Amino acid sequence: MALFDIADVEFHSQIGVPIIKGASFTIEKGTTVQFEGKSGSGKSTLMKIAAGIVVPTKGTIRFEGRDVHAMNERRTRAFRKRASFIFQDSALWANQNIMQNLMLPLQIHNPEMTMDQKIKTIKEICSLLNYERSLELRPADLSMGEQKKIAFARALVLKPEILFLDEVTESLDVKAVGIVMKLLHDFIDEGKTIIYISHNPSFVKEFPARKIILKEGIIDEIQD
Ligand SMILES: Nc1ncnc2c1ncn2[C@@H]1O[C@H](COP(=O)(O)OP(=O)(O)OP(=O)(O)O)[C@@H](O)[C@H]1O
Ligand SMILES: [Mg+2]
Repeated sequence: MALFDIADVEFHSQIGVPIIKGASFTIEKGTTVQFEGKSGSGKSTLMKIAAGIVVPTKGTIRFEGRDVHAMNERRTRAFRKRASFIFQDSALWANQNIMQNLMLPLQIHNPEMTMDQKIKTIKEICSLLNYERSLELRPADLSMGEQKKIAFARALVLKPEILFLDEVTESLDVKAVGIVMKLLHDFIDEGKTIIYISHNPSFVKEFPARKIILKEGIIDEIQD
């Protein structure tokens, strides 16, 4: 059974404009998959649909055989804990400081951890990513690159098995790109699954993937 099975997915905008048309594909456990295509071709939308974040107009998304939009709350939470998403625009919680942004996923998914353990986990991840500024700052106080680092940290705090990465290296400096790439290599070596979008040729070269190529909302080709 595939890890993800996306079948006959359509997504229309609120005014009925088709954005994703008839998309079907699977993602196997432990593989790296890339969505490719021009700006506006629907990559981010399709990735959010695959991750169960955007509800499609038509079609189904199965995770380990289960329809993600028909799961009970317990299963949804277990799925969310295993699969983290890094958004193209970081999408940090603007009204929460950085510590709170990183704390929230732990509070939801790891309630058994003590506050000390949670703080230790957060500080370890920040130091791994070389984030040296205050955890009391809010997202708006950070540069785009710093926000991306925190978005990456927020995805990693739960030690997920699956990572959805929408332009994870965008706005990062060379040093941070190197750190992120090293962490992603470790992630792959542990047999975990990555689904990514990247306009950065050196990132694409570094992470050979099965390519799902989109053209105007349609899957034009899948290259194994
Ligand atoms: N909820 C929505 N309502 C209306 N239009 C949308 C919605 N979501 C996406 N779109 C439109 O669908 C198209 C595809 O958007 P998407 O963000 O998926 O593209 P992309 O391939 O990720 O582009 P980029 O490489 O620039 O990030 C765009 O024209 C976008 O404006
Ligand atoms: Mg996009």
